[in-house]
Amino acid sequence: MTSTQHPQDPTSALRHEAGASRGARIIGTGSDLPEEIRTNFDLARTLDTSDEWIRSRTGIGARRIAAKGDKTSDMARRASQRALEASGLTGRDLDMIVVATVTPDRPLPSTASLIHHQLGARTDCAAFDVAAACGGFCYGLTLARAQIESGLARYVLVIGVELLSRIVDWTDRGTCVLFGDGAGAVVVGPTDASSTGRVLATALGVDGSLTESLTIVAGGSEEPPSDEAIAAKRHLVRMNGQEVFKAAVRYLSEVSARSLTQCGLTPDQIDWVVPHQANQRILEAVGDRLGIPTSRMVLNLERYGNTSSASIPIALDEAVRGGVIKPGQHLLFCALGAGVAFGSAVVRW
Ligand code: ACO
Repeated sequence: MTSTQHPQDPTSALRHEAGASRGARIIGTGSDLPEEIRTNFDLARTLDTSDEWIRSRTGIGARRIAAKGDKTSDMARRASQRALEASGLTGRDLDMIVVATVTPDRPLPSTASLIHHQLGARTDCAAFDVAAACGGFCYGLTLARAQIESGLARYVLVIGVELLSRIVDWTDRGTCVLFGDGAGAVVVGPTDASSTGRVLATALGVDGSLTESLTIVAGGSEEPPSDEAIAAKRHLVRMNGQEVFKAAVRYLSEVSARSLTQCGLTPDQIDWVVPHQANQRILEAVGDRLGIPTSRMVLNLERYGNTSSASIPIALDEAVRGGVIKPGQHLLFCALGAGVAFGSAVVRW
């Protein structure tokens, strides 16, 4: 499909399609990871930690760190170009660009606007950032699905991208060992009843009583940037790990069950869970609750750590390109992060 085959107003053409059978489908995936690998052993040289502690508590062995000068939008652009190439589309075909990130290039404008320009999208293509932290990819996918199923858009680019190495406190062993940098992207497009692939269900939620358990206090309107805030490191990530852990086990299980119920599938019908990669022990506990062993989960946590909103689309891209995920298989995505905001989706590939 080329840009010349698309009407400038995609909704006018879509209104003529059979609304009842229109669905949304992931038609291309892409990812981008920095070259620098920072292992647990590297961290243990400057921090009071060890490979044994980090691995046994989290399952993480290494993480990628963006090169100096590389920006969130750079990783997002490269991942998007790969996803567009895989889908056979160009930036001009897009009707909406959603960037899920908590590490935008700048507070203003949105990173999505930067990507919009770099990909050569049309001026009637919407673009905006979604702030739902590690849950952001599921929020973006839900938006894409709704836009496409309603006929308001034909092609939506959903990007999860984080440059967390610039917002963590590298002297805080309780947080910095967890995170890494990376980007993943998917192109979502329309499908009909004759097609196998489809987003079958999506579910979202928030427990706003837990906002303090994972936060950056300074840098926003509550406490604008100041020398004092920086000296006290209030512009960096703060976390109550045990609170987040408990919330993750509870809500990842609940929100996954909601998606499964919505599309009438049972856990044994899920071929692969592609989860947010936060912690091996969280995923084992969620797997126990759902009745899905970690052997049916796509995991890259050991190599990349927690890349927040990027973790699901990176894992998905690697599994698709590696031939692990096959047409007709049922996938379950689930994610949770600061907010605490969480989401899930069931997809037939
Ligand atoms: N190396 C060595 N020791 C450490 C480290 C470290 N990197 N970090 C903490 N410790 C110490 C603590 O200081 C504490 O020492 P103390 O007993 O002398 O006080 C001890 O280890 C136990 O600390 P806890 O915080 O109780 O350790 P816990 O078993 O809870 O593990 C962890 C901490 C790994 C952060 C865990 O709580 C966790 O993974 N929580 C989920 C948080 C998460 O995933 N956040 C990511 C963003 S949200 C998301 O993506 C879901």
